[in-house]
Amino acid sequence: MLENIHQAEKETVERYKLRMKQAEELGDYGLANDLQGFISDETGHMEEVYMLLREFEK
Ligand SMILES: [Fe+2]
Repeated sequence: MLENIHQAEKETVERYKLRMKQAEELGDYGLANDLQGFISDETGHMEEVYMLLREFEK
């Protein structure tokens, strides 16, 4: 279950990265900046789940 959550967070980060790149290409730097914040949040979630996974492996 934690593996699935980790994978979902990872995929979310990748989708936001793509959307941020697209926003930059369109010159919408406000949206790109918002998306960067989302990427930061989701990366934090991904790292938290990773740490939980490592705890369960011990
Ligand atoms: Fe998340």
